[in-house]
Formats: sequence, structure tokens, C-alpha cells
Amino acid sequence: MTIYSQKITDAFQTVFSKIPSFIVRAPGRINLIGEHTDYNEGFVLPAAIDKAIYFAISPRTDRIGKLYAVDLNDSYEFSVDAIQKSSKSWANYLIGVTSELRTAGYVIPNGFEVAFGGDVPNGAGLSSSAAVESGMGFALSELFGLKVPRLELALTAQRAEHHFAGLQCGIMDMFASIHGKAHSVIRLDCRDLSYEYFPFNFVNYQLVLCNSGVKHTLADSAYNTRRQECEAGVAILKQFYPHIHSLRDVSLAQVEAHRTDFFENVYRRCRYVTGEIERVVAACEDLKRDDLEAFGKKMYETHEGLSKDYEVSCVELDFLVEQTFDKEEVLGARLMGGGFGGCTINIVKTEKVTDFIQQMIVSYQHHFNRKLVCHVVKITEGVEKLN
Ligand code: GLA
Repeated sequence: MTIYSQKITDAFQTVFSKIPSFIVRAPGRINLIGEHTDYNEGFVLPAAIDKAIYFAISPRTDRIGKLYAVDLNDSYEFSVDAIQKSSKSWANYLIGVTSELRTAGYVIPNGFEVAFGGDVPNGAGLSSSAAVESGMGFALSELFGLKVPRLELALTAQRAEHHFAGLQCGIMDMFASIHGKAHSVIRLDCRDLSYEYFPFNFVNYQLVLCNSGVKHTLADSAYNTRRQECEAGVAILKQFYPHIHSLRDVSLAQVEAHRTDFFENVYRRCRYVTGEIERVVAACEDLKRDDLEAFGKKMYETHEGLSKDYEVSCVELDFLVEQTFDKEEVLGARLMGGGFGGCTINIVKTEKVTDFIQQMIVSYQHHFNRKLVCHVVKITEGVEKLN
């Protein structure tokens, strides 16, 4: 039992006066490369990490769902037969999954009690919401013997995010939380959802996240707009290449050839996405050769594209990446996740990790008068039952 799973178990017992049937661990995720490519049917390279949301759950004899958010010390109750959006945004992730499972034809035979919480920082680009959705779906499936296949769980979680949280997210976050494998990254083809694990276990290098503390609320941000801009790009290109379905079907060279046919912003979005899809494929070749240096260079290219062309960075994230330019111990750094705040991901020489973190904290404090929180993360298994 980790500290957090114990904390959630204790809270469950205090609030519901009984022992939970079992505990579920649903991890947050990192993404090594392949950003804003998932909803363009491209490739991504995420992994589950040792920061997770834990769920304690047990069935009830009536048809009431009782939820307790341990970290917020807040509760919510709903009828599993009449599920509606809540004004409590945290509750929507859990009731959304319950509702989407029912819509998919799974029978929720009883009510239930759930307490949840953990150490995936909120709004940091580590997909705490996908961890909540993935864990909830998995917990319900286990509790009621629904046997929901893992891919179906990921798709259900994604639908919950679309319909209950209002973010038109891709599949990457929930897929990673559910399919993670220790010491491996997942190359997911977001067009057909086929995937391959690549070992990512370099003793000489660690993965360090630097949390800018700038909170992003993707639903309120330009995320959905970026998606629409990509669709606008596809609509233009379709006039010339009727067979294309998404930016996955388009090369960077084709985007360049039609530069004058796009509005400038749409051109730059398409340039970034098509380049990034090609970059993920090339980055996997680097991994096959254990060439982490070449891999790291591509992370910097990704950041440049996200910042200049896709325009989802911010001054704090750009600063954190720029700070690493003259640090030999850093192979690659970039903003991670949807952007507009949250973390950068850095590949840092193991023996220099402590110094690196110290220097980053000092320079961030000096420049922004803000506290930088850094995490050294390990790659773990995906969602699982703990006992
Ligand atoms: C968020 C979304 C994902 C993905 C990333 C950007 O995390 O939830 O689906 O689009 O942004 O790569």
C-alpha cells in the first residue's frame, strides 16, 4: 500500500463507515513526443507514471452513486438511473463515465460508494482528469464484473470527457493511463488504435517534470479552437486531395505546396501537426538505436513548433525550455500535454538531476518570483486493482 492508497482507504472508511471492496490505482501520464497529433489521427508516444489517482469502492443495495473527493473534502450523490451533468466539475468525470458505460450497453446493477484522490497534480498537463475517468471506468467494471475491454474503457473515458467535461480531447491520455507498461513508452497510432511498446529505461538518464504552476483549463482555452483549425486545414486540402481524411494523410511537403491556399494561422497549425507526426515516427527509430541524443533534439523541435506555429505555449514554459539550452546534462526539453501552462518534460543525466532541479528552481524564482515544483517520474503499469 502506498501512502495515497492508504489515505483513500482511510477516508472511505471514515465517510462510508465500511471497508471498501478493493482499491484501484489509475496513473497520470507523460508524453515523450507527439503533441496535438492524437485528434489528427497521428502518432503519440505516452507512458503511465508513478503519480496516480486511487479509488476505494464498494457496492450499495440501492441505486444511488455516492462520490467523495478526498482532496477536496467534497461529496456528491446521484441516481444511476437518471444521470445528469453536475455543477460540480470534479463530479462530472465520474458520473460521465458511469453514464457513458450505460449508453454503451453495460448494466450498472446497483449503486456504489467511491472515495478517490491522489498525487497527480491538477492542471499540470499530467492528465489527472483522464486518470479519474480511466480509474472510475475500471473500478465499475471490476466491481460489477462488466468485463469492459481496456480499449473500450479508454473510448468510454474519452466520451465522458467530450460529453460531460466539454473538452474535445483525443484518445492519448486515457489510452496511456489504461495501457501503460513499466519501463516502456507506447507508440499509439491514433488512426486505428494499434500500438507498440518501446523500452524506455535508460539508467543514465531520468525524466524530470518542471511544473510552471501556470494552470491551464483546456476546456476554457484554445484547445477546441486548435482542433477546428486543423479541420479547416483538412477541408482546404481535400479540394486538392479528395481522399484525405485527416492531417495524418497529408505530408509536410503537401502543406508547404499549398501555403497560399490557407489562412496564415491554419497553415502554421497544419505545418506543425504534419511535421510532428513525421517526427514521432523518426523519434521511434532513434529509440530503436538507443540514440537518446537524437531523440532529445526532436523534443526541442517539438517545443519550437508548439510555441511558434501551434501557439499553445506561454512565457513561463518557453523560459523553462530555454534555460536548458546551455545545460549539457539535458538531452531534450519541451512543454508537455495540451499546453497553455502545466509542465515541461526534460531528459536529464542521472548524476546531474539534483543540481539541475536546484538551478531550475532558482532561475524560475528569480525571473518570475514563482515557485517551480519538479518531479522525477518513473514509468509504470497502467490502471490496476491493488488488492
Ligand atoms: C490534452 C488532450 C490530449 C492531447 C494533448 C495534446 O492532453 O487531452 O488528447 O490532444 O492535450 O497532445
